[in-house]
Amino acid sequence: MKIKDILKEDINNEQKLAIEQVLNLSRPELIVNKDRELTKKEYKKYQNINKKLKKGLPIQYILKKENFYGQDYYVNKNVLIPRPETEYLIEKTNKLIKENLKKEDINILDIGTGSGVIAITLKRLNPNSNITATDISKKALKVAKKNAKTHNTKIKLIKTNLYQGINQKYDIVISNPPYIDKNSNNIESKVKNNEPYISLFAENHGLYYYEQILKNINQIIKKEHVIAFEIGENQGKKIKKIAMKYLPNDEIIIEKDYNKFDRYIFIIGNK
Ligand SMILES: C[S@@+](CC[C@H](N)C(=O)[O-])C[C@H]1O[C@@H](n2cnc3c(N)ncnc32)[C@H](O)[C@@H]1O
Repeated sequence: MKIKDILKEDINNEQKLAIEQVLNLSRPELIVNKDRELTKKEYKKYQNINKKLKKGLPIQYILKKENFYGQDYYVNKNVLIPRPETEYLIEKTNKLIKENLKKEDINILDIGTGSGVIAITLKRLNPNSNITATDISKKALKVAKKNAKTHNTKIKLIKTNLYQGINQKYDIVISNPPYIDKNSNNIESKVKNNEPYISLFAENHGLYYYEQILKNINQIIKKEHVIAFEIGENQGKKIKKIAMKYLPNDEIIIEKDYNKFDRYIFIIGNK
């Protein structure tokens, strides 16, 4: 079997990623080398990946990687697969850091770090910052630790419930917490059947973690602060209400994603 024979089979994007990984070739290199014969071992490897794809496993868990903000990260079934929407959460937060804080040695807390992509990307963008990242899952923290090491970034990882036991004060609190209503039926089976339940679902129509994080937030934020959340569609107004209850003097910005769904909320304190 040659590369061109596989490409002729009308394979989907995930299968293309699989063949790229098996042969360690980029997509353009596949075309250039289309007459190359696959060894028996390579073909078997490709077929094995195909079998797992047919069973509905996400390609990222099969290949054990996902690209985020231009970098490859290790992922396994113990962490949420990083999503492109989260890249904007970081981009905007970084813009707010530059506009509002005007200093480099900032303290950042990432709550529910999962694979660590938010904390690691922010550290790469702000090398002089001090970053703490928490998660309740020991297995997720193991993945974050591996990624921090691969990306040569120093971040402090803590196993705790949200920010329990943390006494420091932060300039930035960022989180992409679980926000899918636990009674929702409107969730892709590939996601529901494979990604960790604790990374997806929340009580109180998906709002539980926002309230939990915000109700004692004054204990861990500095006077000048930015709180950045990724949120679920149609949750903007409800989370704004929660934020106003605990941080009545803050400026609140809700932003939508490319599909025009509420996706981000930024809570800015200047006083
Ligand atoms: C939606 S995932 C986000 C993962 C990663 N930050 C990202 O954006 O790709 C939510 C994460 O919150 C963690 N989590 C759930 N409940 C938590 C809690 N009570 N305290 C800390 N982390 C929690 C989950 O283990 C999961 O890693």
